[in-house]
Amino acid sequence: MTEPERPFSHVDQSTEELRRHMLAYLDAAAGNPEILRVRAVALDALAPTPGQRLLDAGCGAGEVARKLRRLVGPDGAVTALDYSKEYVAAAAARHDGDPVDYVVGDVGALEFPDAHFDGVRSERVFQHLEDPDAAVRELARVTVPGGAVCVVDTDWASLLFDGVDQTVVARVVAKLGGTGMMRNATMGRSLRGRMVRAGLAGVETMPVTLRFTEPESAGQVLPLVDPKAATPLAALLGEGLVGAFHATVDEAAARGDFLAAFTMWVTVGRAV
Ligand SMILES: C[S@@+](CC[C@H](N)C(=O)[O-])C[C@H]1O[C@@H](n2cnc3c(N)ncnc32)[C@H](O)[C@@H]1O
Repeated sequence: MTEPERPFSHVDQSTEELRRHMLAYLDAAAGNPEILRVRAVALDALAPTPGQRLLDAGCGAGEVARKLRRLVGPDGAVTALDYSKEYVAAAAARHDGDPVDYVVGDVGALEFPDAHFDGVRSERVFQHLEDPDAAVRELARVTVPGGAVCVVDTDWASLLFDGVDQTVVARVVAKLGGTGMMRNATMGRSLRGRMVRAGLAGVETMPVTLRFTEPESAGQVLPLVDPKAATPLAALLGEGLVGAFHATVDEAAARGDFLAAFTMWVTVGRAV
C-alpha cells in the first residue's frame, strides 16, 4: 500500500506536496505540548547519560536526536536514522550543536553490528511498518545487554471525540478502517507483548493519554482535525465526509465543548 493511505511508510514515493505537508506536520507535532509530555516520559524511560552512544530510529526531522546529542555530551554519540532520504536530508539541514550521524536505513534491517548502541528509541514509527516484530528484534540486537530499547507509538483505536456529531465520527472511522490506514490501529498497546515475546528483559509500558480541547492544537497531532490536511484526506474519505467532520468540529469549537483524546504507549525493555 502506498500513499495516500500510509504515506509515512513510503515518504520518498509520495508527491512533493504530500511530503512537504508531512514534514510540516512533524514540525507542528514536535512543538505540541501533548507530544512534549509523551517525549518527557520516553526520555525518562531511555534515561540517557553522558558518554552514551544512542540511536533514534525513524527520526523524522531529527529534533529528538539533537536533544539526545546535547544530553550525552561531548563524549557521547547519536545516530539519527530514517527510511526516507528526504527526511534524513531535512534533519541534517536543521542540524545545530555537536555532530549527529544522520543515516538512511530501515529499522527492520539495521546495518549496525550487534551491541553497537547503549540505548535505542523509535517514536511513532512502528505503526507504519510491515513487520514490527522484526524491528523489535533489530533494535534489541544493536543494543548492548542491559541497554534500553524504548519504543513509543499511538493506539489509534483509543481515539475519541466529544462535542462533535458521533455519527460523523463513526462514518470517518469506518471509512478509515476500510482504507487499511487503521491496520496497525492497536500498535501502541501491542508494544509490550512484542517486546516480551522478543525476549527483552524488564519490559515496562506507560500509557500517556493526550487530550485536546482546541481543534487547532488537536490538528497539530491529528491530521483528521487539521484543515490543512483536508485535501489528502478527501482522497481517502471523500470531500463530503471531510467537510461534514470539519463542520461538526467547528460547531463544537464555537460552543467551547470540543474534546479529542487518544493514548500513546511508551514501552521500554532491556536488551539481553
Ligand atoms: C510519524 S513519523 C515520526 C518521526 C519521528 N520519530 C517523530 O516522532 O517526529 C514516522 C517516521 O518513520 C519513518 N519510517 C517509516 N518506515 C521506516 C522504516 N522501515 N525504517 C526507518 N524509518 C521508517 C518515516 O520515514 C517517518 O520519518
